[in-house]
Amino acid sequence: MVPTMGYLHEGHLSLLRQGRRLVDAPSGSTEVDEPGSVLLTIFVNPTQFAPGEDLDVYPRDEAGDLAKAAACGADVAFCPTDPGLMYPSLHTWVSVEQLSGGLCGASRPHHFRGVSTVVAKLWGLARPDFGVFGDKDFQQLAILTRMHADLFLRGEVVSMPIVREPDGLAMSSRNARLSAEMRAHALVIPAFVQAVQRRFAQGERSRAALLGDFEEALAPGKVDYVALVDAADLTPVDIVQQPARVAVAAHFGQVRLIDNALLAP
Ligand code: PAJ
Repeated sequence: MVPTMGYLHEGHLSLLRQGRRLVDAPSGSTEVDEPGSVLLTIFVNPTQFAPGEDLDVYPRDEAGDLAKAAACGADVAFCPTDPGLMYPSLHTWVSVEQLSGGLCGASRPHHFRGVSTVVAKLWGLARPDFGVFGDKDFQQLAILTRMHADLFLRGEVVSMPIVREPDGLAMSSRNARLSAEMRAHALVIPAFVQAVQRRFAQGERSRAALLGDFEEALAPGKVDYVALVDAADLTPVDIVQQPARVAVAAHFGQVRLIDNALLAP
């Protein structure tokens, strides 16, 4: 299962291709394998948007998405358009308390409750052997991995690396909403993440030395946060001794972009 909100780009397609590989790989089981299928889900999940966020203008192209997905080996698509179908009531929520409050959760307080709830519903409907997610949203991935373990869901959570545009900008459905001017400015994000990785490779380990003057580096973007966190539990790190992540969220015009990179000693 590859859950998405649609408007598919190469990042999403890399998850579908990985799904295809997982389904086609021999399981190693001695029992005869049932033929599997790759399931794409497209649902612009209203509960992960706050009032005033971009739910109403979130880009959509279902016909284009289905053609791209089929070309990448997807077999089935589940695309509920009526939110009432996914939310017969609004009384049951899945909330991963420890990991959902910081980073993107600080400025989007109910966001991850919406994400974990909808993915739990999709997992219950599809009961997949694998759910495939991208590292681009590494806080989301950490939360869903925790949820999957804590709720004893079947199958495995699988993660895939960030896919980038040729100029380095992390692919996102939201990139389509950037003006040409803001699209050019947004390159300061991958440039900043790369600079942090370079300083790390040169031996820097302290937060101050790694992050430098990030407001200046990310101008004219409006910084939501720049964080250095433990890669496993997402707690803030001052000196990197175990795998950490540098994570960025910034607004360019009306569009909020995120990016991150692993810093592994
Ligand atoms: P969406 O933003 O559509 O992303 C769907 C999946 O694609 C997520 O696992 C995300 O991490 C991955 N993805 C997005 N951009 C990527 C990139 N550049 N490289 C690699 N993977 C990328 O994330 C969501 O939707 C929703 O929150 C969802 C999990 C579907 C729940 O509604």
